[in-house]
Amino acid sequence: MWRITCKTHSAEIDLKHCLIPITVFAGIIAVSSAAYIYYGLYDIGADAPHWFVTTQLIETLRERSIEVRARDIETPNLKDLQLALKGAAHYDAMCMGCHLAPGVRNTEIRLGLYPKPPDLSKAHVDPKAAFWVVKHGIKMTGMPAWGKSHDDNALWSIVAFLNRLPEMTPQEYKAIVAKAQAGNETTPMEAHGEAQDAHGHGHSHASPKHQENGTHSH
Ligand code: HEC
Repeated sequence: MWRITCKTHSAEIDLKHCLIPITVFAGIIAVSSAAYIYYGLYDIGADAPHWFVTTQLIETLRERSIEVRARDIETPNLKDLQLALKGAAHYDAMCMGCHLAPGVRNTEIRLGLYPKPPDLSKAHVDPKAAFWVVKHGIKMTGMPAWGKSHDDNALWSIVAFLNRLPEMTPQEYKAIVAKAQAGNETTPMEAHGEAQDAHGHGHSHASPKHQENGTHSH
């Protein structure tokens, strides 16, 4: 309606007629958004799903952001078996709880996460995108930036392992993880404890008892 009014007037009146309704409209939006936030109307709970449009918008935002940042990354030889073997221990210790493994259908932490972490024992992810995501994480999803505690070589080993994961049977998965752990001088958890200490945020979890168990919290 305002647009029609604007078009029928001369340039000067046009500006006056358009500016007032636009300013009023912007004001209403700003005030109602502020009120919406201030009165706590938004449900921030992880068990309250987004609207369909919001989901579409966030997914496009995530995909484009990752695609643009990942496209120029150079990939090492991901067929290298030793590299994938190294990644197996990392995956089991750091990722499995959220992203599952062959024969593992769900975990307590995954059930409560929103958005739900993809089942990487079933889905193939583009290696460049996977590397970028594992290194930098994804804001407001629970996906951590592992680049804060691991070097690129360790991250590529995980990507090499991810490449093979969807083809693995539960037995193969268990065997490769066991082999990777046996091949390490230290257990994965010990190695992580040291990495954290080296970066100055070691914590009481790295007690000798915890390292012996070499387990997660359960
Ligand atoms: C605390 C749970 C959690 C842990 C631990 C975790 N992730 Fe994630 N990951 C997520 C979530 C949540 C997403 C994002 C899902 C979304 O945006 O829809 C995600 C996304 C990803 C993606 C992008 C998948 C895609 O289709 O674009 C990759 C790859 C990935 N994670 C790999 C890993 C690897 C490898 C590890 C271990 C080094 C790991 N993640 C550890 C929760 C986790």
